Amino acid sequence: MTNKKTIMFDINNILRSNIKNLKPYSSARDEFQGEASVYLDANENAFGSPLHTSYNRYPDPMQYQVKMRLAEIKGVPPRNIFLGNGSDEAIDILFRSFCNPGVDNVILVPPTYGMYEVSANINDVETRKVNLTDDYQLNLEGIAEAIDKNTKIIFVCSPNNPTGNSINRDDIETLLANFQGLVVVDEAYINFSRQKTFIQELTEYANLVVLQTLSKAWGLAGLRVGMAFASEEIIEVMNRVKPPYNINEASQQLALEALQNTEQVNNWIKETLAERDKLVLQLKEFDFVVDIYPSDANFILVKTTDAKGIYTFLVNNGIIVRDRSKVELCEGSLRITVGTPQENTILINTLKNFK
Ligand SMILES: Cc1ncc(COP(=O)(O)O)c(C=O)c1O
Repeated sequence: MTNKKTIMFDINNILRSNIKNLKPYSSARDEFQGEASVYLDANENAFGSPLHTSYNRYPDPMQYQVKMRLAEIKGVPPRNIFLGNGSDEAIDILFRSFCNPGVDNVILVPPTYGMYEVSANINDVETRKVNLTDDYQLNLEGIAEAIDKNTKIIFVCSPNNPTGNSINRDDIETLLANFQGLVVVDEAYINFSRQKTFIQELTEYANLVVLQTLSKAWGLAGLRVGMAFASEEIIEVMNRVKPPYNINEASQQLALEALQNTEQVNNWIKETLAERDKLVLQLKEFDFVVDIYPSDANFILVKTTDAKGIYTFLVNNGIIVRDRSKVELCEGSLRITVGTPQENTILINTLKNFK
């Protein structure tokens, strides 16, 4: 593969034929937009909700206000933004739009985020796995060999979960420049990273989809709001395939409110990074810590001499981390999320008692 902008990407070559011809559901809120005094078009309860706030009306199916605010923050027009019920929904919709069940395949680069495989399995799409190298980077030759005419998507998570490192930018660009299908760059942890986002590359690569989420740095995992950034053509397809009201009204309102508070989020990011560095230094002092991989995320992958023993010991002390020791290339490793200063202190003090 060469790192040149060579391919001519045509969405029609990878779109499922049933989706190409799909006429989407037309909701009441799609048919009439604007202000009216009496709404008798959607079979809602006109009296209200048995709550302090009324949620008796269906939400905006296209989440226009949230997208307008995100457009300001991300520097990309609303027409290039898709919102999902978490970025997990965006992943599922990519499968449903572009991968023919029982025929097509996608490339995964383990160890990586588990939902790509689960979504593939749900949609009956073959996964071709090309492991990351020993330093958790892309094996470009292996990927090139695994691609065939039915390969529709390559998923790259950067910073990667569970390893925490960023994937080399040039390697991702090589995929974008040479692969005829979609390259999905999952940037769930980008706010913690030293690398810049791929969103700016959307004008360069028509086959790029960038995933981000409000679940991590933004502190809104409970609201379920994820984002996909891509060409207008790709976003249009995803909007046709999604359930009509996939982001509920409470989530839209609260996300909009939260998106005004960038200062708070930026302060938390700074604090998380400082805590991460401190945690790394403290963990390195323990004899049972073999290695800590450089992290660009809000978690660290820690290789230990006894992952299962440490995991169980921590659980017994009320502390839950993620045991990744059964994952290929993560043998002996625990994935630890950076907590508040107080939580991190409890973790370190508890580990001092591990024999
Ligand atoms: C890499 C990655 N992508 C996506 C997600 C899912 O995010 P969301 O909460 O937006 O569905 C996660 C959650 O852990 C993740 O680690």
